[in-house]
Amino acid sequence: MSELINKLNIPKHIAITMDGNGRWAKERGKKRVFGHNQGIKSVRDTIEGAVEYGVEFLTLFAFSTENWKRPKSEVNALMTLLIKAINNETKDLIKNNISLKTIGDISQLPLKCQKELAESIKKTKDNTGMTLILALSYSGKWEIINAIKKILQQEVTSENFSEDIFLQYLSTNNVPDPELLIRTSGEKRISNFMLWQIAYSELYFTEKKWPDFRKEDLKEAIIEYQNRERRFGKTTTI
Ligand code: FPP
Repeated sequence: MSELINKLNIPKHIAITMDGNGRWAKERGKKRVFGHNQGIKSVRDTIEGAVEYGVEFLTLFAFSTENWKRPKSEVNALMTLLIKAINNETKDLIKNNISLKTIGDISQLPLKCQKELAESIKKTKDNTGMTLILALSYSGKWEIINAIKKILQQEVTSENFSEDIFLQYLSTNNVPDPELLIRTSGEKRISNFMLWQIAYSELYFTEKKWPDFRKEDLKEAIIEYQNRERRFGKTTTI
């Protein structure tokens, strides 16, 4: 297999389920939080790689609706880590012309976290390079229900309702669907991530746990994507 990326066929949007932090730490006799801390290095390197390869949108599944059910100490540690990471990384986002966005029920996050995110979003909003989307307190089912609730408040009738109208109520409005979804740590599940948007995404699963994931692994995933044939329900033979 050629190890060269085809620069003319880069997925515009890559979504990643960053999984395996806890197991990675346990394997090393450490607490789960140690894995989350190490995961920040992977986040940095993956963002750097995505910019280098010319990806336009990178969505990272950082905290799911279901993750609120984890022990309070782990939830608190993750929120503290998020606040610290946003605070530390915003200057590099600006330097790299990256704009930050979030999807999910942000109102559920601690106020300090909401404030940090809002500031970083504001500071990076005019950047014209890659868009980094953090999925926080997010789940695909939540997003769909949330869209339906908003639609029910409008004067939308079944006659004028369409897929295009529905799309406008999703949090990814104006963002193309991901062509590639990556999940680390060997688990082969969607786990309630971008249920609507991944209808035709290529799925890529790697055994590597998130703290070991680096831009070379992103490159490998992109190359595999480039070697796949995407038919969107059609055939290639006439
Ligand atoms: C999954 O591993 C990982 C998470 C729930 C959190 C991921 C968050 C980070 C790496 C930090 C995010 C920060 C930014 C700035 C995006 P797991 O705990 O489910 O691992 P396990 O499956 O081994 O238990």
